[in-house]
Formats: sequence, C-alpha cells, structure tokens
Amino acid sequence: MTQERAGIFISLEGIEGAGKTTLMQKIAAYFQNMGKEVLLTREPGGSELGKKLRSIILNAEEKICPASELFLFLADRAEHMENCIKPALEQGKIVLCDRFIDSTVAYQGYGRGMDIAELEMLNTLAAGGIKPDLTLVLDLDPKIGLARANARNKEQNLTVKEGRFEAEALEFHQKIRAGFLAMSKKEERFFVVNAEQSAEQVFEMVHQKLKTMLL
Ligand code: TYD
Repeated sequence: MTQERAGIFISLEGIEGAGKTTLMQKIAAYFQNMGKEVLLTREPGGSELGKKLRSIILNAEEKICPASELFLFLADRAEHMENCIKPALEQGKIVLCDRFIDSTVAYQGYGRGMDIAELEMLNTLAAGGIKPDLTLVLDLDPKIGLARANARNKEQNLTVKEGRFEAEALEFHQKIRAGFLAMSKKEERFFVVNAEQSAEQVFEMVHQKLKTMLL
C-alpha cells in the first residue's frame, strides 16, 4: 500500500454489465458505517469539465477517431485527478472510482489496438503518476455482461448511440476481458472477482479483501 497520502484510492474495473455500480454502493456503505468519508466518482465524467467530455465521448453525433477518443478520456482523467481525486485523498477520504487508468489500457489498447506502452505513459501523465491502492476487476463472460448492460440501457431508455461501447461486437468485449485479466497478473494492486456470482457473493469476496487492507 502506498502511504504518502492519507486516504485510500480504490478503482473498479470490468466489462459492461459486470455490476460495478452495485458493488461500489455496497463498498461505500461499508466504509460509511465505519465512520469514514467516501467520494464516489467515475470516469469519464467525475469532474465538472468531465461531465461535458463524457457527453461528447458517449453521445457524439460524429464518428470519433481512436486517437481523439483517447485524448478525450485522458483530458477527463487529468481534470478529475487534479480537482477531485487528489484533494479527496489529501483530506483522508476513501475514493471509489468507477473506471480509471486500466479502462484506457483495456479499451483503447486491448480493444482498439493502440500501443499499450504508449498508453501507460499517457496514463501516468494524465493521472499525475497516481495509481489506485486497490483495483477490483469484476470478471465475467461478456455474453452475460452485455445482456445485463443492454437490459439496463433499455430500462433507462438509452439509445444504442448512448451505449456506444455496448454496441461493439462480442469479440471486442472478449478482448477487453482478456486485457483486464492480463493486466491483473502484472501488478499487486489488482484483485479479480468472479462477477457471475450474486451481488452479495461478490461483495463478500471484496469485503474479505478490504478487511485485510484496513488492518
Ligand atoms: P459508462 O456508461 O460509464 O460505462 P460503464 O457503466 O460500463 O462503466 O461508459 C464508459 C465507457 O467508456 C465504457 O464503455 C468504457 C469506456 N472507457 C474507455 O474506453 N476508456 C477509458 O479510459 C474509460 C475511463 C472508459
């Protein structure tokens, strides 16, 4: 664990429909019950500028080329780190972030085929060299994830365009999943959870991990 900052930084990653939002709420409740202050945030769209960038990235009428898409995600990240995540960590908060640097490597790198070493460098620049203390990877078969995500989009009346990444072929999501699993083997901060289990079971696995971190 990195100890230069007072707070704890946890990111949640995984393919669409893995259950990140539900898990995040359960983790937030767990920490709040312990009397800790929690910042729940997400990428893209965690900062004020980020909300505008999110809308451009996910709702653009025009086709966005892969490099522009990447730089929009990175601009969102730089702003989010500087104005939201860093101050919260300095104040000793627990920061729970729905997607972070590893989504860029998974989607733009493993998914779109951009150079991974270059993406890692750009991530370092955008995130000011800060990495999460813990990265939870919710792992499941993309067929199950996409079915969940599409059902949710329908419920929220989102068009296919608003669910841009959900509209990608199954093969794309299989690459993303493989990417997250490959990354997880390289750094200690990763904790992979089988997200085909119930939300309660997923939280129980994560709960065990969090207990070891807080000792
Ligand atoms: P969102 O609706 O937040 O998806 P989810 O609920 O699955 O988190 O949309 C964010 C999309 O952006 C998601 O499909 C992943 C993608 N993404 C990237 O491609 N690169 C990135 O760096 C980030 C942060 C997200």
